[in-house]
Amino acid sequence: MTMDPIIHADNVDKVFYTRHFFSKNETTEKRRLYEKRRVHAVKQVAFEIRRGEIFGLLGPNGAGKTTVVKMISGLVRPSSGDVYVAGMHVERQRLKVLRKIGVVLEGTRTSIWPLTPLENLAYFGNLKNVSGKVLRKRSHELLEFIGLSDKKDVQVRRLSRGQKQKLAICIALIADPDVILLDEPTTGLDVQSARSIKDRVIEMTREHNKTALVTTHDMGVAQELCDRIGIIKNGELAACKPTGELLDLFSEQVYELRLDRVPPNGVLSGIEGVLEVSMHEQEFDALCVVTIEHDPVLRSQALYGVIDRLRESGAQLRSVNLRQQSLENVFLRITDDSTE
Ligand SMILES: Nc1ncnc2c1ncn2[C@@H]1O[C@H](COP(=O)(O)OP(=O)(O)OP(=O)(O)O)[C@@H](O)[C@H]1O
Ligand SMILES: [Mg+2]
Repeated sequence: MTMDPIIHADNVDKVFYTRHFFSKNETTEKRRLYEKRRVHAVKQVAFEIRRGEIFGLLGPNGAGKTTVVKMISGLVRPSSGDVYVAGMHVERQRLKVLRKIGVVLEGTRTSIWPLTPLENLAYFGNLKNVSGKVLRKRSHELLEFIGLSDKKDVQVRRLSRGQKQKLAICIALIADPDVILLDEPTTGLDVQSARSIKDRVIEMTREHNKTALVTTHDMGVAQELCDRIGIIKNGELAACKPTGELLDLFSEQVYELRLDRVPPNGVLSGIEGVLEVSMHEQEFDALCVVTIEHDPVLRSQALYGVIDRLRESGAQLRSVNLRQQSLENVFLRITDDSTE
C-alpha cells in the first residue's frame, strides 16, 4: 500500500430538493401545487482513501453512504466541495475518472435481464472500450472467479438475487478499474457467495494494488475486510480511523470474572475506577461482569479492589477474561442518538 490518496473527498456537501405534489385543499379551496423539501444528505464530508486500501463506510439507513458513493462515481453532483479520483476532478474530468472506477450500487438492476451474463459483459465491456480477445478472456475469468461460470449462458432474469449481484460485480470489474465502489455488496447473499465476494475484494487490493470502497451494514464484513472505516451519521462523518483504532476507541474495559457462586449484594460497590457491575447466576457457577476505567492507574486500583473484595466475600475465582470490544458495539456507541 502506498500513501498517495486515490480518492479524495474534500468537504463535500449534498442537499437534495424534493417536490411533493398536493391537490386542491377542499375546505380552503386553496391550491397548493407543491411543497419543496430540503434534505441535507451529506454534510462537509472529508476523507482520503489510499491506493491498495479497503475503506469501509458504515452508517444507519439514510445516513448518506450511497450519496457519497454516487458523488465519487459522478452520478450525483455535490452541492459544494470537490471529489478527486487519482488526482482528477470527478466533475471536470468525468470521462477519465469513469475509466478508473467500477461501481456496484445497491440493488441489482445493473445488468440487462434478457441477456446472458456473457452477453452483458460483452455489452458493458464494449461501452468501456474493452473488446476482442481481452474482453472474452476477462469475461470468462471473472465469471469463473466469482463462481458464475455455469450460468454464463442463462438469461439474467432467470438468475437468483445473489447471482445477479455477482454479475453486477463482474460488470463493474470488466474494464479492470483501479478503484471499485461497492454499495452493500453482500446484502442478501448466502455465506459462500458473501465469502467469494470478500475474497475477491481482498485479492484485488492485496495482490493487484487496487482500491475498494465498501458500504455495508454487516459489521462482520467491515471488521474482516476494511483497513479503515468511516462512520457516517446524519450525513456527517462521525469517525474515520483504521479499524484497529476504531475498536480501541471506547477504551473502558469489560472484564468477565467467573466465580463458584454469586457473591453478596453490593460486594463491589464504591470501588474507585469501577464503572458498572452486573452479576449473572448460571447453572454451575456465576458470572460477574465489571466495566473498568481505561486510565492505567485507576484501572490497576480498580482491578485489585475487585479481586480483594471478591476474595473477602469467600467466593472462589475460577477465571478472568477481558472482553473484546466489537465493531458493532463501537458503531452503536458512535451512532447512538442519545449521545448528541
Ligand atoms: N435523489 C434523492 N432525492 C432526494 N433525497 C434523496 C435522494 N437520494 C437520497 N436522498 C436522501 O438523502 C439521505 C441519504 O440517503 P442515502 O441513500 O445516501 O443513505 P444511505 O446511507 O445509503 O442509507 P441506506 O443504508 O438505507 O442505504 C436520505 O435521507 C435520503 O432520503
Ligand atoms: Mg444506501
